[in-house]
Amino acid sequence: MDAIDVITTKRDRHELSAEQIAWVVDAYTRGQVAEEQMASLAMAILLNGMSREEIRRWTQAMIDSGSRMDWSSLDRPTTDKHSTGGVGDKITLPLAPLVASCGAYVPQLSGRGLGHTGGTLDKLESIPGWRASLSNDEMLDVLRTAGAVVCAAGDGLAPADKKLYALRDVTGTVESIPLIASSIMSKKIAEGTGALVLDVKVGSGAFMKNLDHARELARTMVDLGTDHGVTTVALLTAMDRPLGLAVGHALEVEESVEVLSGGGPADVVELTVRLAREMLDAAGISGKDPADALKDGSAMDAWRRMISAQGGDPDAPLPTAPETTRVTAPATGVLSRLDAYKVGVAAWRLGAGRARKEDTVSASAGITLHAKPGDHVEKGSPLLTLHTEDAARFPRALATLEDAYAVGDAADPSLLPLIIDRVTA
Ligand code: URA
Repeated sequence: MDAIDVITTKRDRHELSAEQIAWVVDAYTRGQVAEEQMASLAMAILLNGMSREEIRRWTQAMIDSGSRMDWSSLDRPTTDKHSTGGVGDKITLPLAPLVASCGAYVPQLSGRGLGHTGGTLDKLESIPGWRASLSNDEMLDVLRTAGAVVCAAGDGLAPADKKLYALRDVTGTVESIPLIASSIMSKKIAEGTGALVLDVKVGSGAFMKNLDHARELARTMVDLGTDHGVTTVALLTAMDRPLGLAVGHALEVEESVEVLSGGGPADVVELTVRLAREMLDAAGISGKDPADALKDGSAMDAWRRMISAQGGDPDAPLPTAPETTRVTAPATGVLSRLDAYKVGVAAWRLGAGRARKEDTVSASAGITLHAKPGDHVEKGSPLLTLHTEDAARFPRALATLEDAYAVGDAADPSLLPLIIDRVTA
């Protein structure tokens, strides 16, 4: 096998063979295909696409580059959710213990935020003592104790993806649906879950700004899960405005605890319950309604067990920012829009995000929303509260928010419904 043959096959729009795919992914992972050769192949894939069979084989090769986790010693089905990421998307926090409290095991390997989107591990790390890195045995212990575990993926899981993702990031090859789908699904399949629900976000604050592209990504990932024996369903959901009323790590933990206490913003509750029902259905579990588990305290009990089992103190006060400032409504009327991307960038500038993987984040920085699109607002009433550790960050965050919202007579008719569509095998 020769890297140049593989590159020119895809450059000339031919299908890569099973042998070519297995060889090139393995040789690249072992450092025997050069970075510039893989960059060239990734660009050829971005430009010329891949067939369903090629994507399946590529994903299999990425899974085979590392180890696959095995939960067969557990006595109940496993089920998980993956979101393609957004602004204020804290759903994993209430969802994992909620689904555990309804009778499934939820083994979730999560990531950190980059750019304007927040990562689940960063959010949970705002809880004093909580640990993201667990060994496989520790993961199993937490699962047995709490029914759910959320932690970082170890180095042994799909190492080909780790290397390739970093290369795509600096070679303009992130936005390829076959490469995104195989990247996400190789990690989820290697994680060993029996069922998977994908929350594919659409809108300014999402990876996929456009509904057609989001639909194609969802279809590709559902097919991949199905082809690998994982029961997979996808929901397309709105990310044209932030989810919930809190954006920022500790602020989002606080909102998640409200949801687990039976309260919380309507959109967060609706999406959490819907995803929980999908996860339980996909795992073949019936008998308990997730909406009841939020009300009767059983989801909260599972949350407390999960946080404690990972070293966290569920009763410890969360960090709060010493500096705050407000944005107020410029007129009386209806908040017609509030752009998710701009709110995410402003939170990032307040300290909640990182520019490079190595950067640290501020747990207390972020933005609280006082109104959502469609709500009535009075001139001068608060729209947003900005939180930061460093008041010098306010001017750039405020500049980002200048045209992020509008007050008019009605909600913008182009706002997406919270749950747009469902994609199944
Ligand atoms: N998330 C991933 O894990 N991989 C991608 O390619 C894009 C988003």
